[in-house]
Amino acid sequence: MAEEICLFIKDGLIIKAPKKSPVLLRTIVLVFVMVCGVYICSVCLKQTNFSTKTKFLNIEVLESYCHEYDIDRSETPYLHYPKPKTFRRAECSCNPVRLFAILSMQRSGSGWFETLLNSHVNASSNGEIFSVKGRRENASSITKTLDRVYNLDWFTSASKNQCSAAVGFKWMLNQGLPEHHKEIVQYFNDRGVSVIFLFRKNLLRRMVSVIANSYDRYAKLLNGTHKSHVHSIEEAETLSRYKPVINLTSLMTDLKQMEVTVMKTLEQFQSTRHIILFYEDLVKNRTKLVDVQEFLKLPLMELTSRQVKIHKGPLSEHIENWDDVNKTLQGTVYERFLHADY
Ligand SMILES: *[C@@H]1O[C@H](CO)[C@@H](O)[C@H](O)[C@H]1NC(C)=O
Ligand SMILES: *[C@@H]1O[C@H](CO)[C@@H](O)[C@H](O)[C@H]1NC(C)=O
Ligand SMILES: *[C@@H]1O[C@H](CO)[C@@H](O)[C@H](O)[C@H]1NC(C)=O
Ligand SMILES: *[C@@H]1O[C@H](CO)[C@@H](O)[C@H](O)[C@H]1NC(C)=O
Ligand SMILES: *[C@@H]1O[C@H](CO)[C@@H](O)[C@H](O)[C@H]1NC(C)=O
Ligand SMILES: *[C@@H]1O[C@H](CO)[C@@H](O)[C@H](O)[C@H]1NC(C)=O
Repeated sequence: MAEEICLFIKDGLIIKAPKKSPVLLRTIVLVFVMVCGVYICSVCLKQTNFSTKTKFLNIEVLESYCHEYDIDRSETPYLHYPKPKTFRRAECSCNPVRLFAILSMQRSGSGWFETLLNSHVNASSNGEIFSVKGRRENASSITKTLDRVYNLDWFTSASKNQCSAAVGFKWMLNQGLPEHHKEIVQYFNDRGVSVIFLFRKNLLRRMVSVIANSYDRYAKLLNGTHKSHVHSIEEAETLSRYKPVINLTSLMTDLKQMEVTVMKTLEQFQSTRHIILFYEDLVKNRTKLVDVQEFLKLPLMELTSRQVKIHKGPLSEHIENWDDVNKTLQGTVYERFLHADY
């Protein structure tokens, strides 16, 4: 089309050329021919680009022979067919895998949540892989680690290997997330990683759990071993016998700090595909676990965990200086933390 127009104009000008001032006209013709030439060239280049792109698409179609056509097209960015370097997915190579990351804070129920998730035959959540500093040193070490996990080449007791339908890990907010959030969000959005936020509503209870857990790191209340999670009521009772003293001077700012950290993370990661869960809701309402499985598009199963909650009952029983804490928080925005019974 473009060529035809150019030739037509060229012909017209060439026919008229000899009749008037030849130098001027020749210049005009020359300019026209050059402009047309450049235009045609650019059209040709575009077409070549297009044809290589088409080839690319063809290759992709060939490689993704697995695609199930009954799957909603809008799901495509979230479906992966990894080819692990360390094993073959064999008969499961056409089971699509979804990628996820649990973003949480210490002592917010993420360990318990992970055991629930891992009780699903098709889900693998590989723990706190970024607790190791070298893996979160910089954006490229983070990317390398993520690639390995999402390619199913990361081995933990949670690995389900061939028949994984959802693979991920948990990532604490103090493990390089705020520092590298731009690159991480980019990675998540480019690769279609779904984010599960798991937070605790009662930040005072979280504080008690954090202090008690770090106390036990050296006190080792369970026959000389430190445990962050327990599997029996006796163990839970032993651990909860220690009552922390809360620092009243920094109490308000500490609670505020936790709240701000959560809000900031939600803001930074809002463009990802995500679901927000609260520990308290999961404890009270097991239907929330159905939401999670639906979010990860897993076949629905009953999820189970052997973990036992450590600090049960009213908070007043778990804080040494309860009366002062009660007084400090009365009439503040955090008063609600005093009453909630979980
Ligand atoms: C990133 O960190 C890794 C591991 O510590 C290191 O080997 C690598 O050189 C670093 N890369 C950049 C670009 O700083
Ligand atoms: C879940 O795992 C089972 C057993 O390994 C397998 O047969 C099934 O195809 C998997 N389901 C999905 C959706 O990947
Ligand atoms: C600790 O030791 C006691 C008695 O020796 C035993 O009954 C209990 O099961 C042990 N607990 C753990 C967590 O090993
Ligand atoms: C309590 O917090 C304040 C302010 O952060 C700090 O200066 C003080 O040392 C803390 N007290 C204890 C006993 O840790
Ligand atoms: C339990 O969770 C489900 C799913 O999120 C929700 O629809 C339902 O209203 C919840 N029930 C209660 C009692 O909160
Ligand atoms: C907290 O303090 C208020 C008033 O100072 C009191 O009425 C309430 O019983 C206290 N709560 C607990 C659980 O001790």
